Amino acid sequence: MFDPYPLLKPVLFRIDPEQAHHLTLKLLKSGLFPRQKTFQSSMLETQVCGLTLPNPIGLSAGFDKNAEVIGPALHMGFGFVEAGTVTPKPQHGNPKPRIFRDPTTGSVINRMGFPNAGMNVFKDNLERYFSRKERGRGVVGINIGMNKSQTDPAKDYTVLVHKLGPMADYLTVNISSPNTPGLRNLQKADVFLELIGTVLEARDAACGKLHPPPLFVKLAPDLDEQQQEELAHAALQSGIDGLILSNTTLARPEHLPESFRNEAGGLSGKPLTQRSTQVIRNFYRLTGGKLPIIGVGGVSSGEDAYEKIRAGASLVQLYSSLVFQGPLMVSYVNQKLEELLIRDGYSHISEAVGVDVDLKSEQHG
Ligand code: FNR
Repeated sequence: MFDPYPLLKPVLFRIDPEQAHHLTLKLLKSGLFPRQKTFQSSMLETQVCGLTLPNPIGLSAGFDKNAEVIGPALHMGFGFVEAGTVTPKPQHGNPKPRIFRDPTTGSVINRMGFPNAGMNVFKDNLERYFSRKERGRGVVGINIGMNKSQTDPAKDYTVLVHKLGPMADYLTVNISSPNTPGLRNLQKADVFLELIGTVLEARDAACGKLHPPPLFVKLAPDLDEQQQEELAHAALQSGIDGLILSNTTLARPEHLPESFRNEAGGLSGKPLTQRSTQVIRNFYRLTGGKLPIIGVGGVSSGEDAYEKIRAGASLVQLYSSLVFQGPLMVSYVNQKLEELLIRDGYSHISEAVGVDVDLKSEQHG
């Protein structure tokens, strides 16, 4: 397969990261980026929360904040795309510069603060995508968040669910981005339960109780063990359909170059790989494998994706590694995943979910 990314990458890495991102979106929208043959395998086609996905690798939130490139992203070979985070009103986000890359360690720091065009533009873009005859195969999730100016978070989430819920294959309540003041407080178990109760009511009112879109909640990797335990129990009680683990981290591993690690914001990419896998493993164990998990954080290869699946993830997402490796990586990840499943004697991806976690020892104390 011809890979144009090695030609484009030097240009993208010479300009400001956010400009590089806008240029990438423009290229994807223009259709100039050549469409590649993507990897297909019946071993990877899977069902989660009633959704059928052509493969378990998804594009995580933040790449397509305004639902502008869902089609091109699915054509890269992703099994699903999570658009957003979208807020009710448009907002500018934090002052620029606010994205920083470190190619030497495969890491990104961002303090975007949910810049986006707001839910009306998002909805128009989504309707345009759905009205196209030639839609990509794959699932479309919508990641929702609150405006910076909102003092009553439940209001924003409710408005968003009413506006966008009926168009979503699944919804994600984002309560874990580190760049919106107060957002991570929604991860306290009692606050979480109240918020989710309201959001689920809104979802059923907007979408009907029969087949509403599954509701996922995206959490931070920076929760301590007690918080994880409390949230796992709250999540089981709450009626949500699954968890997304995890968002970016506030941690700054020692090995990162000093000027880079001093930037404020959420860290993603390779330094997050092990931490997010550990959080997946913990939640899989704490929930007894009863809540589907979408694993995300530092996935840059089929091996990384497989490790997250074995730790309890039913699906996997990525973002940062796409910046460093380009779109062809999606097919490579899927191909490697199939290879690893065959090596270990599995005939389908679902058989490998959580195999590295001993649920019996948890039940017996
Ligand atoms: C993000 N991420 C993110 N997550 C989210 O829920 N809403 C968002 O708007 C954003 N925005 C965003 C912007 C940028 C520039 C980055 C790098 C990341 C987090 C993202 O979805 C993912 O959870 C983490 O980046 C970890 O995965 P990777 O990047 O290590 O594969």
